[in-house]
Order: sequence, then structure tokens, then C-alpha cells
Amino acid sequence: MSNQDKVRKLIDLRAEAKLGGGVKRIETQHKKGKLTARERIDLLLDEGSFEEFDMFVTHRCTNFGLEKSKFLGDGVVTGYGTIDGRLVYVFAQDFTVFGGSLSETFAQKICKVMDMAMKVGAPVIGVNDSGGARIQEGVTSLAGYTEIFQRNILASGVIPQISAIFGPCAGGAVYSPALTDFIVMSKATSYMFLTGPKVVKTVTGEVVDEEQLGGATVHGSKSGVTHFVAEDEQEGILLIRKLLSYLPQNNLEEPPFVPCDDPIDRLEDSLNSIIPDNPNKPYDVKDVIHAVVDNGEFMEVHRNFAPNVVVGFARFNGMSVGIVANQPAYLAGVLDINASRKAARFVRFCDAFNIPLVTLEDVPGFLPGTTQEYGGIIIHGAKLLYAYGEATVPKITVILRKAYGGAYCVMSSKHLRGDINYAWPTAEIAVMGPKGAIEVLKSKEISKIENEAEREAFIANAEEEYKNEFANPYNAARYGYIDDVIEPRNTRFRIIRALQSLATKKATNPPKKHSNIPL
Ligand code: HXC
Repeated sequence: MSNQDKVRKLIDLRAEAKLGGGVKRIETQHKKGKLTARERIDLLLDEGSFEEFDMFVTHRCTNFGLEKSKFLGDGVVTGYGTIDGRLVYVFAQDFTVFGGSLSETFAQKICKVMDMAMKVGAPVIGVNDSGGARIQEGVTSLAGYTEIFQRNILASGVIPQISAIFGPCAGGAVYSPALTDFIVMSKATSYMFLTGPKVVKTVTGEVVDEEQLGGATVHGSKSGVTHFVAEDEQEGILLIRKLLSYLPQNNLEEPPFVPCDDPIDRLEDSLNSIIPDNPNKPYDVKDVIHAVVDNGEFMEVHRNFAPNVVVGFARFNGMSVGIVANQPAYLAGVLDINASRKAARFVRFCDAFNIPLVTLEDVPGFLPGTTQEYGGIIIHGAKLLYAYGEATVPKITVILRKAYGGAYCVMSSKHLRGDINYAWPTAEIAVMGPKGAIEVLKSKEISKIENEAEREAFIANAEEEYKNEFANPYNAARYGYIDDVIEPRNTRFRIIRALQSLATKKATNPPKKHSNIPL
């Protein structure tokens, strides 16, 4: 073969690999409303930046005559490229080859990019679209999955790991995405479940379709498995690109600084009157977030899951932060099991990746009742407590209104190494709300008053007295638990100043093998 022919052969092989499972299967993929693995990578990465690995890899399986059926690349496209000029490693499962099912060599390709990403300290993004373990391969496929899981675990907290689910993701295949930091699912074309509808029907008798069992909407609202729900793949890919803009490359780096022209001393007059006079009336804490962050831009995580707490990324004067805010507009902002889990995981992510935490607090307490107690609110609430107490990144808290009971302690209080704790003049900081407190403290006196009008007047008077004593920030400020009571319209400036002052913060935890967070 002449050298020219050798070059020709390379070009032909490349062209063959790029077709994956072939033109017909690509057409089927498109008919399902899905992009191919390569189209997804092209959209995800900066134009022309993709460097592919292992496009000549094929499987080694000889069971069921599989040796007669081989495709270059073996069903997964892997390599590296850039997003906004920053290095990332990627793999995209190719459904056109054996339904994107995972073989031994397929797993080895994924492990290679994960190892490279760990070596150089860059994020890994995995696009999932697969029928699961390659049935013909048997245990070598299971071994391959587990090699990936092990790498997910060791990379956790070292490099950001993001999973896109743009097709099926079933059985044990769900566990790699579940071990990563963020999951993005596309509506209509993706689903995740451990056991599919047929097995569910056989085992439990329950009749349910794929969408109801594990569609994006279900996982975005009921289970919280997915952090983002995208209308389609294109939106999902844009979400991933945006998410990365808030994150550092690895746990030893700081998040990128984004030059900002939003004035740091911008006064937001609307905040002085955002808290209703009636303490039982809600307002939308997202209005507060949008008012104080750079250019009103807030990237919400878990938007429809446990909306009583709001978490997400934003910037203050170009500095990336994680925001945790109780949401009075949903269940009065109470902390329940799901809200605690959601916020705890977010706090731990931010802490692992050097992203300062800004907490906006308005919480009446933990949700009472048997559902919560039987579901283990004690353990789940402890997760949030633990996450805040363990976090060593800069922690700034602003108490907007209610900070009652255990929730005061949990929400990044001074006593959990909160660095700078502010309160608005509308803050109410106490063991419990006035109504509950008076019922406990004055129950004997109240029961002795027979006349209803007199009883009500007594209660109103006692509640007023309690409010004057406790439903304000000054009691806490007298002890130094609140560093300052700030004018609401000045919140942006005060947070930015606080962040600037904490930029060189150093804090550590005692040496240990690892912590034992209440799981
Ligand atoms: C080998 C597979 C495959 C698999 C699909 N294919 N799944 N090949 N192993 N797991 C092949 C099909 O034979 C077909 O090949 C092609 O991929 C496309 O599949 P279709 O069925 O035609 O596509 P569609 O109708 O869209 O259905 C997709 C699907 C279905 C819902 C994913 O293929 C399916 O149910 N697959 C099996 C899913 C499953 O049970 N996986 C094992 C889970 S257990 P041709 O040649 O016709 O194009 C597991 C354990 C992991 O994963 C444990 C890790 C710890």
C-alpha cells in the first residue's frame, strides 16, 4: 500500500467511525427527536475544539455471533475540547450502535477520559442515551459500569461532573449519573429508572408508563433526581455551558471571575418595602435574589423540587456564589425533608468547589407532623445542619424576616461558623413564633379567663409583648450573633463588601479519614 493509500485509508476509517451505527440508524435517531452523539458534542463544545480519542476501538465480544458485528468507536464518542475556552472532557453514548449499550471497551473509553480529567483537573460531562449493559457481554459489561462508578466516586469533590440524560438511562446505568454533581434531563426524550414499566407491573402490579415512572418532569419535581429539566436537548446543552461558567475547573481553583458593569453600590429601593406588614403574608424571595445579584441573573438549581427552599448560582461583582434562600411563597418557606436534602447537597457542592455561600433566611421552622417525623426529618434536617457546619467557604447570611427555632441555628448562623451575619430590621429571631410561644407560656392564665373577648384581648396583649421583646433583630444583635442590622435597599453593597473582605478566608476542619454526615 502506498503512503497515499495509507492516508486515504485513515480518511475512510474516520468517515466510517463518524457514521456510528450507520445512516439508517441516524435517521431513526432523528425521527425520535434526538440528536446523535456527535451532534451533541458539536453543540456542547466551542466550535472546532473537539479532540477525539479511541475512534478505532471495537468490542471484543464473541458471544451470540457478535464478532460479526463491529462498529468503529463501539457506541461511545469520547475526548476533550473547550467550553468558553476552558478545558472539559466529554463522552457521549451513541444510541445508533447497539442502542448505546455499554460493553467492556465502551467502559474503558469512558474511564480513559475520566482518568485524563482527574490528571489535569478539568470537568467531565457525560451524555447518556443507552439501553444499559450490553446484554451479549454479560459480566464484562457489569465490570465496566462498576469501573466507571469507582471513578465517579474518586472524582467527586475533585472535578465537577455533569450528566446529561437525552435518552434511556435504565437499570444500574442510572448510578453513574446519580454519583455526579448535576443531572440535566430533556423533556419527552429522556427517562431514568432502576426497573422499567414491565418489571414494575410484574412485581407490584402497578401500571405506569416510562414518562410517569422516570420522565424529566417526574425527576425534576417529585424525586429531585434531576437538577435541571430542559425543554429539549439544545436547551439542556446551553444549560450545561452556563452552569460551568459558575464553577472552577477543580477543587484547587477558584471559580472564574466575570467582569461586571452592574454598580456594586446599586441601591434597590423596592427592598425596603418588600416584606409585608402582616408576618403571615408571603412574598417571593426570588424578587430579593434578582434585585441584589449582578444584572439580576440567577441560575436556579432544582427549580421545581422542594420549592420551599431556593438554591442556585449567581454573581456579586463578578464573583461566583451559591445562594440558598427560604421561599416564603411556598409552604411559608418551612424546612421539610426534601428542602433539607436539596439545600444540604447544594451547600456541600459549593463548599467542595470553593464557591462562597450567601444565605437569605426567612423560615418559620421545621415542618411538624407524622409524615415528616416518620420520614426521618431529624436525620434529613441534620444533613443541612452538618453541611453548613462543615463548610469552610465564606458564609454570609442575611435574615430577612423569620429565623425561628432550630431553623435559626441551621441556616448558616454565627454558631455554625457563619462569617458575616446581617439582619434586616424586619427580622424576627426567637425560639418560636409569638402564637406558639404564648400558648406554651400563658396556657394556665388563658384557660382561667372565661369571657372570650377578654381572653382574646389577653392573648393579643401577650403576643404583642412577646413580639416587642423577640420579633426583632436587636436581641440577637446585642449578643453579637448578628453583625449588623442593615437597610434592605443596601443589601447588594453589603454582601459584596462582605465577600471582598472574606476573599482570603482560611478555615479548616480537623484531620480525619472522612466525615460521617447523617445519610
Ligand atoms: C445490547 C441492545 C441493548 C442492550 C438495545 N440494544 N439495548 N443491544 N444490549 N442492552 C439494541 C437493540 O437490539 C437494537 O439493535 C438497537 O439497540 C436499538 O434498540 P431498539 O430496541 O430498537 O430501540 P428502542 O425501540 O428505541 O428501545 C430502546 C430501549 C430497548 C427501550 C432501550 O432497546 C430496551 O429495552 N433495551 C434493553 C434495556 C435493558 O433491559 N437493558 C439492561 C438493563 S440492566 P439493532 O441491531 O436492531 O439496531 C443493566 C444492568 C447494569 O443495565 C448494571 C450496572 C450496575
